[in-house]
Amino acid sequence: MLDEQQKTLIQDTYRQISIQLIATGQRFYHHLFRLYPQVRPLFPDDISGQSMKLMQTIGFAVSHLNSPDILRPVVAALGARHSGYGVQPEHYPLVGEALLTTLEEILGSGFTPEVRGAWGALYGELVDAAISSAA
Ligand code: HEM
Repeated sequence: MLDEQQKTLIQDTYRQISIQLIATGQRFYHHLFRLYPQVRPLFPDDISGQSMKLMQTIGFAVSHLNSPDILRPVVAALGARHSGYGVQPEHYPLVGEALLTTLEEILGSGFTPEVRGAWGALYGELVDAAISSAA
């Protein structure tokens, strides 16, 4: 469970990301494929239409931090679709690392240890919901 301070940190930093969502998405795929080239073949060759997808879901999660009853089934269905994309449970930490690397790049000095912890906790909850359905 995220505590109130973590929720506030996520909402405040997401505001900075949301004004440059496409760029953030592009940086995310850049980092993901640079750090973990082994996941590149899972994605289509042309990922130009891809860059918003993860970020949009993250935005949905940020706006439903206090509504887990709405968020969890949406992410569970997403996780089930991901099994169909060939995504394995062990891929989730790689995406999490690429996400945190992207946030660090975009937020700069605003990416404090507390901010990292809060985003890591949110991502962990998303993965929990995604994987539980895929099992
Ligand atoms: C909680 C973490 C994740 C979120 C929120 C997320 C979000 C999304 C969204 C919204 C889509 C669009 C299609 C759909 O809604 O079904 C998508 C597609 C996809 N994601 Fe994820 N994803 C996550 C984790 C991962 C992981 C760990 C991988 C594996 C490296 C991955 C690989 C893919 C692939 C291969 C597609 C389909 C690409 C295509 O064929 O167009 N995702 N993701």
